[in-house]
Amino acid sequence: MSRVYNFNAGPAALPLPVLEKAQAELLDLGGSGMSVMEMSHRSKEYAAINDQAEANVRKLMGIPDDYSVLFLQGGASLQFAMVPMNLRRPGKVADYIDTGSWSSKAIKEAKVNGSVNVAWCGKEENYMRVPKESELNLTPGAEYVHICSNETIGGIRYPTFPKTEAPLVADMSSEIMSRVIDVTQFGLIYAGAQKNLGPSGLALVIVRKDLMERCPEDVPIFLRYSTHAEEKSLYNTPNTWAVYILKLVTEWLDSLGGIPAIQRINEKKAQTLYNVLDSSDFWRTPADKESRSIMNVVWRLPSEELEELFVSEAKKEGMVGLKGHRSVGGLRASLYNAVGQDAVDALVSFMKEFERKHG
Ligand SMILES: Cc1ncc(COP(=O)(O)O)c(C=O)c1O
Repeated sequence: MSRVYNFNAGPAALPLPVLEKAQAELLDLGGSGMSVMEMSHRSKEYAAINDQAEANVRKLMGIPDDYSVLFLQGGASLQFAMVPMNLRRPGKVADYIDTGSWSSKAIKEAKVNGSVNVAWCGKEENYMRVPKESELNLTPGAEYVHICSNETIGGIRYPTFPKTEAPLVADMSSEIMSRVIDVTQFGLIYAGAQKNLGPSGLALVIVRKDLMERCPEDVPIFLRYSTHAEEKSLYNTPNTWAVYILKLVTEWLDSLGGIPAIQRINEKKAQTLYNVLDSSDFWRTPADKESRSIMNVVWRLPSEELEELFVSEAKKEGMVGLKGHRSVGGLRASLYNAVGQDAVDALVSFMKEFERKHG
């Protein structure tokens, strides 16, 4: 067996102990004689998995009881639609901050059936930074303020989050559980699972209970947060496999020492890579230093030919997923929780050699 160093942006690397445990339990989960995918979602066995997954998320992130924790389908993209449907009442405005591709997509969806104020837009500066709080043009009485806390494609993130009067809503897909945050600073947090939590198709939603009551009556029952909260994410048949893997991933994270521990590991990994990127003009990092992501590190080389060569040579050394997003080109290494320091060390030694040959 040979596992690669996996720098994919999502779906992305999963912790090896999690994959091994899932493999060991695939034919007979806990003496049930079947896999999690073959058991009823109404069974006692599955209820225990669902409950434990929720308890793990609550423990790791310190989530108070006045928040619901939901496991929903449709990935993070469905949340682009569910957030405005549930939280923006008729005739009201929602504020959105546009820091890149993913916040733009959220804005596009929110504009479909209601009013949006773009409180700041980084497009003219090529999305290379997040705004300062003083730059935000917020609407008095807005229903909520939406941010993408870490832009997976542009490689920028909020070092600290804006303090807003309206509830703050954050797409944390590409950095959930990678650093310590104060959940109470947010009205709602959502994240597609396929970066730091498990398989794609699952979204983790953490929502303050009082906000769920806002939902207008013409919103389809399935698309209301309250429906899923009342049924503990078992309103319909959930993605049982994904919830099970999320449970294992959160147990793995807890065994490392939780989010404070992984944050230290993540900061060191990112620093290792940025140190090389800052060491010479051969490497160019578009993101402003203060806004740099520690999950998605983005850079360019002097030519596209060299970038292509970089990707193909790296692949020969067992490193994959380094091509930048198709919309922006360049190079990107995603350093999610399951990507170890060993992977980053291998990458930087390859980079130093690449620069020696082509710099
Ligand atoms: C920040 C962010 N938001 C949303 C999405 C969309 O997620 P999904 O494909 O689960 O809908 C992604 C996907 O990579 C993302 O990185």
